[in-house]
Amino acid sequence: MFDLSHNVSLKKYNSFGINVNTRYFLSIQSEDDLVSFFSQNKTFLHEKRLILGGGSNLLFLRDFQGLIVYPQIKGMKIISEDEDSVEVEVGAGEIWDDFVSVCVEKGWGGVENLSLIPGTVGAVPVQNIGAYGVEAESSILRVNALNLQNFSRRIFTHDECHFGYRNSCFKNQLKDMYLISSVVFLLKKKFALNFSYGALQSEIGQSGELNLKNLRLAVISIRKSKLPDPSIIGNAGSFFKNPFISPEISGKLRDQYPQIPLYPCEGGVLKTSAAWLIEKAGWKGKSYKNAAVHDKQALIIVNKGQASGEEILELSELIRRNVNAKFGILLEPEVNIIG
Ligand code: EPU
Repeated sequence: MFDLSHNVSLKKYNSFGINVNTRYFLSIQSEDDLVSFFSQNKTFLHEKRLILGGGSNLLFLRDFQGLIVYPQIKGMKIISEDEDSVEVEVGAGEIWDDFVSVCVEKGWGGVENLSLIPGTVGAVPVQNIGAYGVEAESSILRVNALNLQNFSRRIFTHDECHFGYRNSCFKNQLKDMYLISSVVFLLKKKFALNFSYGALQSEIGQSGELNLKNLRLAVISIRKSKLPDPSIIGNAGSFFKNPFISPEISGKLRDQYPQIPLYPCEGGVLKTSAAWLIEKAGWKGKSYKNAAVHDKQALIIVNKGQASGEEILELSELIRRNVNAKFGILLEPEVNIIG
């Protein structure tokens, strides 16, 4: 069943809580719903469109003059299982953390470090969400999708997704070309817990026995202490990506700022902390119009209540320019900006 509405407010569909409207809003429960909608409503084929998951990584600047597709494709089913692992297919419209919770309950390892990340399962491969030393791609086996040009179905193997840091082919060369209908995960029954991340180590030390459930609890506790709850304060998690910098630049910065966090990465480059740069530039806790930089995590921009998308973007631009002037590093937004 599909359901088409006109002039719908998107306020409750984006975690920034920006009050904009979309001209059309189409809710679907299966790939077939989308195919039947377009075959019965051919004029809509030419509308500008956007596929909306949990809306937790989007910034709307103005009303959306087109068609928003809202996949409510549900279901979790075991595809195969042996004593070592289990393959599970999850509908794009399922809430990501509900799936993580099921995995932890069943004793399946792989996604526990990604506890409490907001959003739906369909957005997980697009962003290759990551936290506390783990990226979703390490548990993604394949992605089932519908081509939005010719409506053929395609299975993307893990390698065909071209995963990178907060990146995949669905954000680049195939942007807006596919509707992800479900994701197949491979979870481990025998696994090693990853608690290498500093903050996690000290948190888990307090929760006793090292197991999946306690690791999930530790992640939830850190996230709750640092990250604002979007149902209370509008935000989209990290606004910027952590930047990669050359050994030359990092050497110069380290001479000047011995405390700068630097993490060596593949190819000789180093990753530094955008939050650290923003804090060092004096932005932590600062307000601008109806937007502000979160006082507990400088990478997060919050909506103080009535902010427009433009105000949040303006604040992000001020930060970008200032960090660039101070450190010679141009931050890239992690949030998708919809103009
Ligand atoms: N730091 C500061 N000031 C701050 C916060 C952090 O200087 O206000 C420095 C500290 O040196 C700290 C380091 O930054 O040790 C790392 O901070 P944190 O552990 O909070 O992680 P992050 O690099 O800022 C990334 C992800 C988060 C994810 C955390 C935990 C990106 C863009 N962000 O943030 O993901 O939860 O690691 O793994 O990679 C998101 O993508 O929306 C998101 C919240």
